[in-house]
Order: sequence, then C-alpha cells, then structure tokens
Amino acid sequence: MSVSPEPAERRVAIITGASSGIGEATARALARAGLSVVLLARRVDRIQALAEQLGDSAIAIQADVTDPASLIAAAARVESELGGADVLVNNAGIMLLAPFSADRHADHRRMIETNLLGAMNATEAFLDQLRSRHGDLVNISSVAGRTARPGNAVYAATKWGMNGWSESLRQELHPDVRVMVIEPGAVATELTDHITHPGAKQAAEQMYEQMAITSVDIADIVAFAVTRPRRVTINEILVRPTAQP
Ligand SMILES: NC(=O)c1ccc[n+]([C@@H]2O[C@H](COP(=O)([O-])OP(=O)(O)OC[C@H]3O[C@@H](n4cnc5c(N)ncnc54)[C@H](OP(=O)(O)O)[C@@H]3O)[C@@H](O)[C@H]2O)c1
Repeated sequence: MSVSPEPAERRVAIITGASSGIGEATARALARAGLSVVLLARRVDRIQALAEQLGDSAIAIQADVTDPASLIAAAARVESELGGADVLVNNAGIMLLAPFSADRHADHRRMIETNLLGAMNATEAFLDQLRSRHGDLVNISSVAGRTARPGNAVYAATKWGMNGWSESLRQELHPDVRVMVIEPGAVATELTDHITHPGAKQAAEQMYEQMAITSVDIADIVAFAVTRPRRVTINEILVRPTAQP
C-alpha cells in the first residue's frame, strides 16, 4: 500500500502596497501560484475587496510602511494566524518627480520614508520569520535604481539606496533568505497620479502613455522568481518596456 505524502504547507507571501498597481497584480499572481497572500496598504477598503476576491488564501491588514508599529502588529498577526512569512515583497512606493529644490522638502522626505525606510521597516518586522522559514525577500526597485536623470534625483536616490541595501542583505542573509531585486521601467499604474509638479507630471504621463507595460507583466516575473527551486536564486531582474530607450 502506498502512503500519500502530506500536502505541502502553503507558503505565505506578504505584499506591501497591495492596494493598486504592481502590488495588487503581484498578490493575484502569487495567489494563482498557490501561495497564501497577506495584503498590506493604507487603503483598507481596497485590500479588503481584493482579499474577498482571492478567497480563503488572502487576508488584508491595514499597515503604513512609514509606521513601524503597524508592521510589527501585522507580523504578529501573520505569525499567529498563518505561522509566519515565507515571502516579503517590498513594493510600497511613491514617485514624486520634480526638479530638486527646497520647495519640495516635504516630498523628498516622504519618498525616502516610504520607498527606502518603509522597505527597511517591513523587513525589520518580518526578518525573523523569513530567516526561520528560509524565505524570499523581494525588493521592487526600478530602472531608476540603476540610472538617474534630471527631475528624478530623490526618487532615484531611494531606488539606488534600495539596490545597495539589497546587495548587502543578499550576502548577509544567504543562504537562509534569497534576496531578489526587480527593477521595472515604465509600468501603467497609479504611480504618476501623485506627482504634484505640473511639468514633471505631464512629461511622465506622456512617456507612460507611449510605452508603459502592465502590472501583470511585472507580477508574472515576481511569481516566476519566487517559485524557482530553492537551489536557484534570481538576484536581479531589470525589465523595461520594449519601446523604452
Ligand atoms: N509604475 C512604474 O512605472 C514603476 C516602475 C519602477 C518601479 N516601480 C515601483 O513599483 C512599486 C509599486 O508602484 P506602482 O507603480 O504599482 O504604483 P501605485 O499603483 O501607485 O501603487 C503604490 C502602492 O504603494 C502603496 N503605498 C504608498 N505609500 C504607502 C505607505 N506609506 N504605506 C503603505 N503602502 C503605501 C499604495 O497603497 P496605499 O496608498 O493604499 O497605502 C499602493 O498600493 C513602487 O515601489 C514603485 O516605485 C513602479
């Protein structure tokens, strides 16, 4: 008589910024790939609606990545309800493009607090779980983490910072945690909606209209990366729209 193996335990993925764009698409892709997904964002109505669509394998937890206490509370809930996190996707981010000036002091701080320190806050909250479960840390950086141009100085600084931080973590956490950096080019999402500098907003929207790819294109890549066999780590993926120079 053959003995059927126990069904493999479902891996648990935490996605920050799961209320729209790349985060939402990544949550859908990871749920499709058979992972349980924990949706984090400030707009709780959006993540609750998404969790309902995804069914039993999804839970929504309101969390602001600039507020470490909200992430620590989320991590405690994940541990008690799901046993811990196997994948953390640091995706929450904002891109407030503008020429660098003192007038934009508050925007500069917000971008660094959200894109860079926010990813660190989330990683601090979930690191013990990722370590003990031999998990994956996926940082959503950007083409702007490898190049810079006039008008995106602080946004690029956050993504260059994320890349340097990720490379150090890759070496520190190996082999317990696989560290992966995804660097998308233009992707059609709500990202440009929040730009307040009129000239920068118009230029970005024009560029995105001409060439942006979809959130699903990026989500599929994240799902591919985290479902590789444990012996394989995809450390870095730079992905541009074919039309983006
Ligand atoms: N779209 C692109 O062309 C592109 C290219 C390269 C990289 N990226 C990166 O991809 C990531 C996702 O952006 P997206 O394009 O999908 O834009 P998006 O549709 O605007 O999504 C951004 C997400 O971040 C969340 N967020 C923002 N501030 C937050 C905070 N303080 N706490 C928690 N969540 C927060 C938002 O949720 P709430 O507002 O509900 O909190 C939202 O879910 C960002 O890191 C961005 O830099 C985007």
